[in-house]
Amino acid sequence: DWSMAQFRAAAIKRIQDQVGDKKVICGLSGGVDSSVTAVLIHEAIGDQLTCIYVDSGLMRQNESEQVVGLFREHYNIPLVHVDASEIFISALEGQTDPERKRKIIGGLFIDVFEDEANRIGGADFLAQGTLYPDVIESVSFTGGPSVTIKSHHNVGGLPERMNMELVEPLRELFKDEVRALGKELGLPASFVGRHPFPGPGLAIRCPGGISREKLEILRQADAIYLDEIRKAGLYDAIWQAFAVLLPVQTVGVMGDGRTYEFVCALRAVTSVDGMTADFYHFDMDFLSKAATRIINEVKGINRVVYDVTSKPPGTIEWE
Ligand code: XMP
Repeated sequence: DWSMAQFRAAAIKRIQDQVGDKKVICGLSGGVDSSVTAVLIHEAIGDQLTCIYVDSGLMRQNESEQVVGLFREHYNIPLVHVDASEIFISALEGQTDPERKRKIIGGLFIDVFEDEANRIGGADFLAQGTLYPDVIESVSFTGGPSVTIKSHHNVGGLPERMNMELVEPLRELFKDEVRALGKELGLPASFVGRHPFPGPGLAIRCPGGISREKLEILRQADAIYLDEIRKAGLYDAIWQAFAVLLPVQTVGVMGDGRTYEFVCALRAVTSVDGMTADFYHFDMDFLSKAATRIINEVKGINRVVYDVTSKPPGTIEWE
């Protein structure tokens, strides 16, 4: 793609001008945005870049191993894997407000990045895969007064006390453009085609407060749902699909016993840029199969519902 080849060259030049011979750290989440950011910056400044993968304990099933494994297999970029799950989960215990959760998580990511920067003898820059829609959705809602919908944690600058400057080479791009750039940079299809996953992870898919037990239940349901989506050949037709664990228990019957367990909501949407979205029209046989598997295989869930809300008026995530 001619325009992406141009963008790539211009972005590399901009990064070199901004960074000079200084060091950069980049938070790698395994998503398209941070992967493309990392590869682009590495192309610009080589091993002045160190990537950091933070296991927040809010990742999906086997995600940390997969991301780190895949990245190490394909790239020769220094990558530090930090397990911070204990810290994140204890800090979130008892928190139910969505924005409060985001603030806590955003703050902890910064703490980890700071620690790791110190460990490599200091870094002057922090790289992030912020996209254009992240910038606008965190700032205002078109057509109305300036209202924050969700404070995406990678937007809004860094705390004053931090001696780091941001490098955000994707700030003007939409997701489809980032995917095109990823292809241009030769990223494996398994990176380029991944569904978006929010920085706060499963914390915003457990409304009403998280716990280790709830996260584990959610992880299992989510993995089954995505497994069914892949088996049905639908993964690439969907922008994003995930399970949400509702803070509601309902009565059910299994064998000849009464059950009283959580409700799981399934979400899937199509979208071009995440700013508007339509719920995905699965056929009922698919939903029935996914629901049956979740209820049979996941201890702690006895009811499954499907979310038929588009954006607007809903948002893609429940929080
Ligand atoms: P919403 O729920 O606002 O989501 O319709 C739009 C897109 O943004 C993702 N999202 C987030 N990503 N930090 C992120 O990095 C966040 O706090 C956050 N909240 C939502 C969401 O998964 C979807 O792709």
